[in-house]
Amino acid sequence: MIEVEQLSKSYGPREAIRNLSFQIEKGEVVGFLGPNGAGKSTTMNILSCIMPASSGSVKICGFDVFEQTLEIRKLIGYLPETPPLYSDMVVSDYLTFAARLRNVPSGKAQSAVEQAVEKCSLQDVSNRIIGRLSKGYQQRVGIAQALVHDPDILILDEPTIGLDPIQIIEIRKLIQDLASSHTIILSSHILPEITQICKRVIIISDGEIAAVDSLESLTTRLHKGERLILKVRQNDSDIIEKLRALNQVNTVVEQETGQFTIDCEPGSNIQETVAKLALDNNWGIVELKQASMTLEDIFLKLTLEEKEVTQ
Ligand SMILES: Nc1ncnc2c1ncn2[C@@H]1O[C@H](COP(=O)(O)OP(=O)(O)OP(=O)(O)O)[C@@H](O)[C@H]1O
Ligand SMILES: [Mg+2]
Repeated sequence: MIEVEQLSKSYGPREAIRNLSFQIEKGEVVGFLGPNGAGKSTTMNILSCIMPASSGSVKICGFDVFEQTLEIRKLIGYLPETPPLYSDMVVSDYLTFAARLRNVPSGKAQSAVEQAVEKCSLQDVSNRIIGRLSKGYQQRVGIAQALVHDPDILILDEPTIGLDPIQIIEIRKLIQDLASSHTIILSSHILPEITQICKRVIIISDGEIAAVDSLESLTTRLHKGERLILKVRQNDSDIIEKLRALNQVNTVVEQETGQFTIDCEPGSNIQETVAKLALDNNWGIVELKQASMTLEDIFLKLTLEEKEVTQ
């Protein structure tokens, strides 16, 4: 549905994104992840026809983003980093204005606004002035303006930024609801948010793609071996040495007093051996578990590796 090929954009001499290529299928909810300045907003602005690229191509449902902007704008709803809200307008008037801007015929504008209001749970505030709403409700209005013309694709640039924890949960829930009927690209640097909402992630770092993959295969790919966490009561000086002496153990690191991270060969299944060693030596096991790699580990590993390679 979305095909991006070799997309680059420079702001004067500054290259913001370089040769990005990725594809997104219909119905997918994809997380666009990257540190500050990675190029997320730049890419989203290009995909939404807000800004031209320097080179490369973007096709959405077969339409060219640079040539067929009218068709693209019908297909896409965009919530930019700073939502384009008019703070002295009443919510429903603003949404009617947004509908007209997106070429919704005047006879259908009212029902389009009603649907957007309902989808974003704005019924209670539809007669209020935008500038007097809470930030969470303003963000809902921002999402409502993105979907007022009933687009297939929603591009949401950091939709939960600046919200309090309760509002964050509400907006995430709203996005999850919308995911059943839209293709969504969502940028964020809040990693748990991406894990909760998205199946696939595109990680960009310094304007280049560091990974495009499902969360599961990213975890397997980067987590080449198995990792165990062992917490013990005793703090004998020879624990590390004894663990390292076990067959199939590659590295042992004491993360904090009495807590060890044991990296071993894939498929080594050595929990029982480690447990027995701990029992035989009376270390007093507090916890022994298999560690799974979090999205945070993956993100740091990929973005730092990228830096190491280019330095
Ligand atoms: N209008 C502009 N003029 C010049 N440089 C820009 C402009 N917009 C962005 N940049 C630069 O391009 C790079 C990518 O910026 P972009 O805003 O796309 O990153 P981002 O991933 O969205 O970051 P953030 O997480 O902070 O929103 C940065 O180095 C930024 O300074
Ligand atoms: Mg941004």
